[in-house]
Amino acid sequence: MTNLVADLVLKGGTIVTDTTQYRASIAIKDGMILAIGADDAMPPTHAIVDVTGKHVLPGAIDAHVHFREPGYTHKETWETGTASAAMGGVTTVFEMPNTKPPTGTVEALNIKLEAAERQAYVDFGIYGLMGEDNLDQLEALIDGGVAAFKCFMGNTFANLPSPPTGAILEGFEIVAKHGLRIALHAENASIMARRQVKLQAAGRNDPLAHLAARPPVVAVEAVARAAILAEWTGARIHILHVSSGDELRPLREAKARGVDITAETCPHYLLLDEQAYTDKGSLIRVNPPVREKTHQDQLWKGVQDGTIDMIATDHAPHSHAEKHNEDIWCADCGFTGVETQMPLMLTQVRNGRLSLNDYVRMTSTAPARAFGLFPRKGILIPGADADIVVIDLEREEMVDSGVLQSKGSSTPFDKVAVRGVPIHTLVRGRFVMRERQLVPDAKGHGTSVRRIQQMPTPAPRNLEHTTAAIIGASGRP
Ligand code: NCD
Ligand code: ZN
Repeated sequence: MTNLVADLVLKGGTIVTDTTQYRASIAIKDGMILAIGADDAMPPTHAIVDVTGKHVLPGAIDAHVHFREPGYTHKETWETGTASAAMGGVTTVFEMPNTKPPTGTVEALNIKLEAAERQAYVDFGIYGLMGEDNLDQLEALIDGGVAAFKCFMGNTFANLPSPPTGAILEGFEIVAKHGLRIALHAENASIMARRQVKLQAAGRNDPLAHLAARPPVVAVEAVARAAILAEWTGARIHILHVSSGDELRPLREAKARGVDITAETCPHYLLLDEQAYTDKGSLIRVNPPVREKTHQDQLWKGVQDGTIDMIATDHAPHSHAEKHNEDIWCADCGFTGVETQMPLMLTQVRNGRLSLNDYVRMTSTAPARAFGLFPRKGILIPGADADIVVIDLEREEMVDSGVLQSKGSSTPFDKVAVRGVPIHTLVRGRFVMRERQLVPDAKGHGTSVRRIQQMPTPAPRNLEHTTAAIIGASGRP
């Protein structure tokens, strides 16, 4: 008879998945969930933590963070960014390629992987850049360990040039053969650049000029174009930071046509509106912009009817000086977010705008499925990674920019009251945050999700028309 002894039992909580909630204990061994069941049915264990009255969720998987290293470490590092994630109940992050150097070559990827492995508190996937100049690098990046790709259709921080449509099509053709998902910053570069020049010439440099430069058509055009290219090539795509109600129509239509397309929105689009430009000034500058209240209302509908698959943060830290400028065009875009998503959105759960199951689906299960991590992550079942967040739905706090782990302390949610906060975060069975305290020893515990990632079989289409096919290149099998 074997003597199976668990490393840890979380006792007496309520387990929550995307579909169910039930009172149970959860036993963890070797970083994985060993058993879930009645409190008195747990295997023998080395340690017990009582979580009676608390809810036990799969850790959040944030598909959109910018951790800035290498290149902009005054804004954030892998240490501070993942510490912020740990404090926010986030157990896996997908990190963006607009660093210096951009993650567009294997050499740049290796620099980032080394920094991440050495410092990360939580698990991570790395986005490779899909740009016009590095299409010949995409397959090497896949072999080198990227988890997905990112294509900047519109300009944003770091000003990586947006590839012309022909280059995007070629990139989709290449990646479609391998099945990895391609995330799009879906804004039309030409429309907004022209409008910005004209606004500047007319003397507009107030915060609302940023919104005026980027009306919904900027996003709608790019979402629709990306969906057409994905449909043609069979590439899997993900629309980042959906900000307008208008984008929901091309999203719904593409989904109805069977395009493998997922979409995220962020807490700032669900919780803020035009008033923020008056209240927050240049701090609120973000791409795409926070919009008028009508968009917020439509985005909530998109959340409730499933058009929007997930909630990510677009954690985009900058220094205080970089965020605050009298001239809106000189303020950096984006703000910190990975640590505040969970309390902000749990507050919405408490307000009845979202069920706790839907919250788990949108912040954990859906991103795990979209990026090939399910069912190792995104669900609490025996055999899954013990990536767990314990939350206290009764606890009331105030968002305090002064205590965030992130170097980018500017947040439009400073001093906002929240109800429902993460109190323990475990990554593969190890506490990285305990009793709302970071566990410093866990630095470096995080690892690349490529060790487990498995996307469904690639589904490329129109292969006889690919650029490689028409010039007779053999391509890679
Ligand atoms: C992001 C950043 O700072 O890297 N900024 C932003 O306004 N969202 C880039 C991005 O996601 O567009
Ligand atoms: Zn973006």
